Amino acid sequence: MNNIIISGSKKMHGTVNISGAKNAAVALLPAALLADSPSRLENVPDISDITYMCKLLESIGVRVKIISKHVLEIDPRGLFTASLGLEFARQMRASYYLLGAFLSKFNNAEVPMPGGCNFGVRPIDQHIKGFKSLGATCLLEDGLMKISCIKLTGSNIYLDVISVGATINIMISAVKAEGITVIENAAKEPHVVDVANFLNSMGADIMGAGTDIIKIKGVKYLHGTTYSVIPDQIEAGTYMVAACATQSSITIKNIIPKHLEAITAKLEEIGAHIICYDDAIKIEANNKPKGCNIKTMPYPGFPTDMQPQIVSLLAISDGTSIVNESVWDNRFRYVSELYTMGANISINDRVAVITGVKKLKGNKIKACDLRAGAALVIAGLSAEGITIIEDSDYIERGYENISTKFSSLGADIQLITSSEDKNISCIS
Ligand code: EPU
Repeated sequence: MNNIIISGSKKMHGTVNISGAKNAAVALLPAALLADSPSRLENVPDISDITYMCKLLESIGVRVKIISKHVLEIDPRGLFTASLGLEFARQMRASYYLLGAFLSKFNNAEVPMPGGCNFGVRPIDQHIKGFKSLGATCLLEDGLMKISCIKLTGSNIYLDVISVGATINIMISAVKAEGITVIENAAKEPHVVDVANFLNSMGADIMGAGTDIIKIKGVKYLHGTTYSVIPDQIEAGTYMVAACATQSSITIKNIIPKHLEAITAKLEEIGAHIICYDDAIKIEANNKPKGCNIKTMPYPGFPTDMQPQIVSLLAISDGTSIVNESVWDNRFRYVSELYTMGANISINDRVAVITGVKKLKGNKIKACDLRAGAALVIAGLSAEGITIIEDSDYIERGYENISTKFSSLGADIQLITSSEDKNISCIS
């Protein structure tokens, strides 16, 4: 596993470019399988989750051509199976999008199911509810989810919980179903809209993505397309929080400021001055941050994927803050690492009460998942002295060149790679 070493308390300045959104890209790659011809994806983030997804697709006959660092061509014409082996089970949660893609393409699918994960139980009952409603039978056997149908028929599906994954998976599976599918209580995240836009550019007929009712009129064929992945709102938010934690002023480019409204509002409450441009944000955080209360919510609420990062900031903000994690059961595991740096945080179930301290102190700490790792980077950047973050491979799953990007902003941060085999089982 890799390590990141940070010498903290350096002010940052300058400009950082945000990469394409991980959680959009991991859905767009399986969605590209529905076309009868190749698609070209631009602004694809260069992160290990994408490398893994590409390997997985190549193992089932899809040709993935790397045109350049951020541009891929996906040719699904060689796809020869609707079945994935068990070896993929714990590697990547987003492989569940292959259930929807295989079902749409072959009327059957066999995909290993990831179990629980680092921040709690992650059921897929709402995905299954959607597939069944479209006419499929679903059976979990020996760790494999087996789904089949004679044909898929449009239907009305009400999601009992707002789920990004279920919304996207049902859209993917319903796009060629006969008739009309309506998803009610759909997730509204920017990456849900991105997948709908991508499918529409392939010839699909999807309306309402970004609202809580999505209407899909089945079409017979989808063709390849050229499409650019939206910018990663969570990566952008992470750099914004890092600027606040180090009382720095930086500019964040290649973003959609609208997607960052909940994060921007909270950081303004914490004391930052934020100026929005068309595709950039300037964040000026010259004063000591003030504590605030936050509840994570589905979009357009404050994203759960920014919860660990903001807790690192609140740990050094004036006063007491309360953070309520309303999406995942167990997403405060990283807090034990912040304790060792001097943070004063008490956790009760899904609620963290944070009493700000003057400064954190550098220490040797361990990343336990992607966003937890990002939170520890922020803690290290703000802390006095040296911080060593072990198992930083988790961070590379979703952040392109995080050390290089922070270095270019003036931070003292270095990635130390290990030659050992990577064997990451954290799931995002
Ligand atoms: N849920 C169910 N049943 C389901 C699906 C979800 O009860 O069938 C519950 C979950 O247990 C959770 C809530 O609904 O309490 C939301 O889960 P959702 O399905 O929205 O999560 P996901 O699609 O599995 C994606 C992101 C996560 C992000 C969540 C929430 C991807 C690959 N992952 O997961 O991202 O936390 O949405 O926004 O898109 C990350 O990037 O670090 C990450 C974990």
